[in-house]
Amino acid sequence: MTQSIGILTSGGDSPGLNAAIRGVGKACVSHYGMHIVGIRDGFRGLMENRTMPLEGEQLSGILTLGGTILGTSRDKPHKMPVNGKVQDMTETIVANYHANGLDCLVCLGGGGTQKNALRLQQAGLNVVTLPKTIDNDVALTDTTFGFDTALGIATDAIDRLHSTAHSHHRIIVVEIMGHRAGWLALGAGIAGGADVILVPEIPYDVEVVADAIKARKRKGKPFSIVAVAEGAISRQEFAAQMAAAAKKKDKKVAVVEPELVYAERTLRLAQQLEHLTGLEARVTILGHLQRGGTPSAADRLLATRLGTAAADLIEQRQYGFMVAARGESSVPVRLEDVAGQVKTVPPDHPWVASARGVGTSFGD
Ligand code: F6P
Repeated sequence: MTQSIGILTSGGDSPGLNAAIRGVGKACVSHYGMHIVGIRDGFRGLMENRTMPLEGEQLSGILTLGGTILGTSRDKPHKMPVNGKVQDMTETIVANYHANGLDCLVCLGGGGTQKNALRLQQAGLNVVTLPKTIDNDVALTDTTFGFDTALGIATDAIDRLHSTAHSHHRIIVVEIMGHRAGWLALGAGIAGGADVILVPEIPYDVEVVADAIKARKRKGKPFSIVAVAEGAISRQEFAAQMAAAAKKKDKKVAVVEPELVYAERTLRLAQQLEHLTGLEARVTILGHLQRGGTPSAADRLLATRLGTAAADLIEQRQYGFMVAARGESSVPVRLEDVAGQVKTVPPDHPWVASARGVGTSFGD
């Protein structure tokens, strides 16, 4: 019985999504003779039953394209804004899945998408997912497509910032994406030779950061690059978050929204460093540059590998799995095991040790 597959992209876009769509699509259609249909704009498109053909021509010429030809959204099946009200649209999604005659739904997305995919699997759909995000914070996979490209963009930016910091004897604070994980700032900070790397997983003391910058100044290097993850927080802010969590009797590390939005916190850090060191400070916020443009070769390779592995799982009617990168290959990981988990940087991670080995300060 020829299977009919629906594929959607959900959450923040990232380089490599189209390479993954191509990998899944070509393997399903050309290799296994399945039918495949594209679902627009993530779970919202499935709720609104908006689809597009995705066989033959549509799968050609997209390997190198940034973004997602399907469109994406951050909408969740069980909490979807409809007519001004947030509603559980799971039943409509399940009905549309069957109305389209689907045998399996492939979801390309990050941590949130894995959770939403599990909910749909539990609602009776056959689901297979791929791990996508520039943040590299999806659990149980070595890495996610999008990360390598963003790493290259952020590293190139740091390379360029070195020359202007050196010329003007300045501190340049460069804010790097990553949501609540520090992988992108850590990786780009090391690759770009940042003097300070601040990540959410290692709350920092701004005085310690200033001391590191002043030590460089005393050694005749009156300029520094501070790579700060957008989710990085000071020890004081971390203590306030924990106190707020304790008050809420929520023993887990609370996801208490920071009192400042990312950019405000980065600007405040630059002002503090300027005051504490006597050096001028400037801020560069890389933002969505890190999500744009053509995927790196590594991301194209990873997305293709995971896409074809997803097609193999579907052919074997192995549903309810995320295809996780593992070494040179991939392994199916149960959605129950990955949903709700976030892969953050262990403070004793080898990358952290290596950065400290070359004298990088983490503000701790
Ligand atoms: O999850 C990817 C990501 O780029 C995060 O690094 C960032 O915090 C977030 O998405 C930005 O979301 P949006 O594109 O919705 O502003």
